[in-house]
Amino acid sequence: MSLTDWKNDREYISLVSDLLNTKEVQKLNNYTQHHNGTRLEHSIDVSYESYRIAKRLHLDYKSVARAGLLHDLFYYDWRTTKFELGTHAYIHPRVALRNAEKITTLSPKEKDIILKHMWGATIAFPKYAESTIVSVVDDVQAVQEYFGHLRKKFQVKLAKFN
Ligand SMILES: [Fe+2]
Ligand SMILES: [Fe+2]
Repeated sequence: MSLTDWKNDREYISLVSDLLNTKEVQKLNNYTQHHNGTRLEHSIDVSYESYRIAKRLHLDYKSVARAGLLHDLFYYDWRTTKFELGTHAYIHPRVALRNAEKITTLSPKEKDIILKHMWGATIAFPKYAESTIVSVVDDVQAVQEYFGHLRKKFQVKLAKFN
């Protein structure tokens, strides 16, 4: 799913534009996320979808929008880079947090959102409802991006028969 309506959502843009305009966030456009689309597109999708859910639930949608956008702020290809000290699932939220702190000041909740977004794969449990939202939306996005990739592949194969 690609949510392009964020471009028409002034309130959302006002919450994240300072971050979106940094070269650190724009750099995410150079990395492929789950087969389909860049890490920047993925980060915006997760941020915007989480923001909409948090808003509906009267939660802290501002923190969700900002930390959601920064949750994968790391610069390596997770499919080829391996670590000695832990899995990618464990390491990358920590790298993202460190990078995020270089471009903005984060509240304890925003830190938790970034750090715990992999809590299904690691044991660190979220402290806030807002962290759980971003984590669940991130999982759903990953599945959708994967199926989008399969659908494309399938269409290419079908096109060969036409
Ligand atoms: Fe992640
Ligand atoms: Fe993610």
